[in-house]
Parts: sequence; C-alpha cells; structure tokens
Amino acid sequence: MAWHSVAKSADLDDDEVIGVEVDGKEIAVYKLGGVYYATHNICTHEYACLSDGYIEGDRIECPLHQGYFHIPTGKAQGAPVTEDIPTYPVKEEDGEILVDVPDK
Ligand code: FES
Repeated sequence: MAWHSVAKSADLDDDEVIGVEVDGKEIAVYKLGGVYYATHNICTHEYACLSDGYIEGDRIECPLHQGYFHIPTGKAQGAPVTEDIPTYPVKEEDGEILVDVPDK
C-alpha cells in the first residue's frame, strides 16, 4: 500500500467525480459533502467508467446500464450490478488528494 497524489483538491468540487490512473489502475475519486472517497473506476457488470456516471446522493449510477454503487462502501445497490466494487482510503494533504492503492 502506498499513498499516491492523484489530483489537486481544487480540481474536485462537491458532488463531483473524476477518473484517475494509479500504477495502471483505474480509480474514481469523489467529493461528497466535503469528504473524499475513492473506488475502482470500472463497473463490475461490464466495461464502463463510473467517473462518466452520475452522482445521486451517496451513490454513483453507472452510465452504461444504470446500476448503482454506494460510494463510501462500494456496495452494489441496483440491478444489473451484483458485485461490489473495491474502495480505497483517501486523504487530503497540502492541497493534494492522496489515494492509498494496493501495489498488486
Ligand atoms: S456496465 Fe455498469 S451497469 Fe452495466
């Protein structure tokens, strides 16, 4: 595990999501009510970037078939998604957003 700087805090407004890449891994970084979250960015149903989807409250709606994931926990919450999505620790330090992504 290692902290990676993925964006400037100023790059992300509240209720916004961006897609970033860390060591070849696709990560979605969210800001909800001033709190940062990170999940894997690729839907567990088929291939779609959640960062192209829509935030509804504390859920992200997949842009392809409108499945839902709970952003803080990664839990699958709506058909057709059944498999949860990995989440990652996030912190903000000196104006940078840092995500802790496993090495493997
Ligand atoms: S690819 Fe996300 S719901 Fe189908």
